[in-house]
Amino acid sequence: MYLLLFQSTPEELETALETALEEGYRHIDTAYVYQNEDAIGRVLSRWLSAGKVTRDELFIVTKLPPVGNRPEGVSKYLGRSLKSLGLDYVDLYLVHVPYGFKEKDEELTPTAEDGSVLLDNDTDHAAIWKAMEEEVTKGRTKAIGLSNFNEKQIERVLKGAVLPPANLQVELHIYFQQRPLVEFCKNHDITVCAYSPLGSRGTAGLLRSQTLLMVVVSSSKELPDLMDNPVVKEIAERLSRTPAQVLLRHTVQRGIAVIPKSTNKDRIRQNFKVLDFTLSDEDVSKLDALDQGPVGRIVDFSFFKGGHLTIGCFGGLDPVIPNPKEIWETSPSKV
Ligand code: A2P
Repeated sequence: MYLLLFQSTPEELETALETALEEGYRHIDTAYVYQNEDAIGRVLSRWLSAGKVTRDELFIVTKLPPVGNRPEGVSKYLGRSLKSLGLDYVDLYLVHVPYGFKEKDEELTPTAEDGSVLLDNDTDHAAIWKAMEEEVTKGRTKAIGLSNFNEKQIERVLKGAVLPPANLQVELHIYFQQRPLVEFCKNHDITVCAYSPLGSRGTAGLLRSQTLLMVVVSSSKELPDLMDNPVVKEIAERLSRTPAQVLLRHTVQRGIAVIPKSTNKDRIRQNFKVLDFTLSDEDVSKLDALDQGPVGRIVDFSFFKGGHLTIGCFGGLDPVIPNPKEIWETSPSKV
């Protein structure tokens, strides 16, 4: 269950989370940058104090923001997240993105006077990971992982890790099945969680105007509607399921966790009902064939003013950046 505050008011979000918990959702995915941890904390507090759920039944995930991407940022921002969530620990803490921003006041995406993002070119993945490991020792998170990292970046973390990443969260859906990255994770005992498993049409549209993580959706292509794909629709009709359920089931059947976003009661309910049916090998093959590889990526990340360039550091793409030498190769994080 993955809820973004900028899609809804705190009240709508609280209602959606109440519905989700009533339906049986126990995995809640949030992040410091979503600015919804307070609202989630209020709902959790109600459920926990009423004894409707116990802490160990919940699986709460949150993430280190790009402005915290330095060793001392880990303790600081995890502390803030725990306070907002009203918890002593989270179940999984992820490094949200491989790049870091410089801190400036309390801005989530700090910018210079000319509007350019204040990138921190000294981001050091290995040092950040040490600080992440310390939080497990302190008991403030049960497990640690990464999000939006590619193989090269994960390898860099693995090299010095005492505790290897438990999980990688990346964009993944039928048009962007992330086969090589999933295989890599499998070989390193890293579980995978798919964000945007439905193709994020609603969110992607909104992200065009959002800059929290400097996430943009490539304006050069139409947003695909995965739920309108004829293969998906045919399977859904034949199995008396919805296209969304077929999409989610296909990913779940690959052994990948899914975090579909919804604030709509019926769809929250519908998205949970994907564990009571199986796709046949034949249907799986048809859906596998819809993979477009990296071309199928929907959510791009762009740092730079103008936003037309893509930092392709997500989920297995090689970097395509304006000044690789300055940004990519010379940063200590790339050693
Ligand atoms: P809504 O919140 O109105 O349900 P993703 O998880 O890939 O990011 O996709 C989220 C988008 O898909 C949201 O716009 C959400 O809208 C919509 N959505 C979520 N579940 C369903 C569903 N079962 N059927 C159709 N659209 C859905």
